[in-house]
Amino acid sequence: MALRSSQWYSGDDRNSYIHRAWMRRGLPREAFDGERPHIAIANTASDLTPCNSHLDEVARSVSDGIWAAGGIPLNLPVLSLGETNVRPTAMLWRNLAAMSTEEMLRANPVDGVVLLGGCDKTIPSLLMAASSVDLPAVVMPGGPMLTGHFRGVPLGCGTDVWRLSEEVRAGTLSREAFLDSESSMIRSRGHCNTMGTASTMACMAEALGMTIPGTAGIPAADSRLLERSHETGRLVVGLVREGRRPSSVMTRGAFLNAIVTLAAIGGSTNAVVHLLAIAGRLGVELDLDDFDRAGSGVPLLADLQPAGRHLMDDLYRAGGLRALLKEVADLLHDEPTVTGRPLSGYLDDAEIWDETVIRRRADPLLPDAGIAVLRGNLAPTGAVIKPAAASPELLRHRGRAVVFDSVEDVYARLDSPDLDVDETSVLVLRGCGPKGYPGMPEVGNLPLPAKLLAKGVRDMVRVSDARMSGTAYGTVVLHTSPEAAAGGPLARVRTGDPIVLDVAARRLDVDIPDAELNAREPAANGHARPARGWERLYIDHVNQADQGADLDFLTGSSGDAVGRESH
Ligand code: FES
Repeated sequence: MALRSSQWYSGDDRNSYIHRAWMRRGLPREAFDGERPHIAIANTASDLTPCNSHLDEVARSVSDGIWAAGGIPLNLPVLSLGETNVRPTAMLWRNLAAMSTEEMLRANPVDGVVLLGGCDKTIPSLLMAASSVDLPAVVMPGGPMLTGHFRGVPLGCGTDVWRLSEEVRAGTLSREAFLDSESSMIRSRGHCNTMGTASTMACMAEALGMTIPGTAGIPAADSRLLERSHETGRLVVGLVREGRRPSSVMTRGAFLNAIVTLAAIGGSTNAVVHLLAIAGRLGVELDLDDFDRAGSGVPLLADLQPAGRHLMDDLYRAGGLRALLKEVADLLHDEPTVTGRPLSGYLDDAEIWDETVIRRRADPLLPDAGIAVLRGNLAPTGAVIKPAAASPELLRHRGRAVVFDSVEDVYARLDSPDLDVDETSVLVLRGCGPKGYPGMPEVGNLPLPAKLLAKGVRDMVRVSDARMSGTAYGTVVLHTSPEAAAGGPLARVRTGDPIVLDVAARRLDVDIPDAELNAREPAANGHARPARGWERLYIDHVNQADQGADLDFLTGSSGDAVGRESH
């Protein structure tokens, strides 16, 4: 089979001369003999993405593996998104990162790609890109950081920041102690060590078949990460020779495996929008209801923060994702992974070494951990809630709405002693969907009013068109679609309206007559339509959350063909 890169390098004309000559800076002539796959290492290493700052070292091991298997490794720095730094929200740039990576893979003389990601949006954007260009691809996640400790107890990054900051607001922790914990939280290289979005998406990549099984969750500081990176480099060369592409790995069955995995690990709700977007790139039929159906009845087996107690290096020590998936092996479809063998073929020798971290199927943390998809007159095309992170007593609730029009509105009024709110109220935040607050930030778990925190209240029903950090918890209804800024009914809710949440019935409603709701003037969105740039393009073309929040013209695949050569 002729290599794609040969389109650039084979021949004796002026163009092939130029292509070869400019690359021959240390590469021998044989590198262009048409026999050696040229492999891009799509590298999201960046000092401004601290969770990925070690990926250059990972890239070197991948590179060594590619050389060892007879390929030619080529480092390709791609747009990187640091969750804690990038404003207004990294999600605004996920589709841009996916688009630019897709185009650079297509535009360059490469035959395959290793995708190096870690921090929340990096693996999703890389998978979206690889899906649209459909070059042979393997994901190599950068791995979670080691557990930090403060005053003798473990600190889970993200989750414990929420907890500690709420304790400060409630007056049960001093600000000095809070700030003292700052230097203890990030103990090593790697991404967040809770089952937040980064860990979830690494597990999703593995469940989709896009990593060597057993890779997700190897801690970033563990020497086995580099060993696996080398193996991944060797594998991708073979993948090119066999012609195995993402479209033949990420099938509908693979997505259903990912949904089962998402429930069993208690993964982030952000996986819903990312998996929908990746499926949209591949043309795989997948919708919100698949999450409810395929995840229904799947037990929560990972006792990890934010749903449980432990952290990612505990999961790896306890046997890792394979040991966990072995417990639900009967729910998995036999789909080939990047190695050609199905995931189920890698589970037989996996064992649980610590049942307090990975629970047995017969003794789950929760019997049913699937993400619930809600519909009703407040969410005509869907909203999601993660029951595993919610308070069981609030899963069926009726309460009076207290409506906020923006995040700024929350911070201006939430802690006011005059705010008319009690623990039965339902906090409603709108204007934070994909268009409303461009990028759909992780603000859905809005904080509780200070006066209720002081009374000891630790959870309330919250409803929004925003997302929530994968490290957060609470009875939080998210991704309400259509969002307020797109004309959804959330824009017509008023403070005082009775909101009814019934997770068992999969309903989210405002209990007023539809005619009255529809007759109301929708609340204005405060965000001005930008005059130019990516944000303008984004607002004009972003899909709603129930479709993955990709841009409408980016769904689907263009393949790897390049129409024209420069002359
Ligand atoms: Fe990068 Fe959490 S901030 S993974």
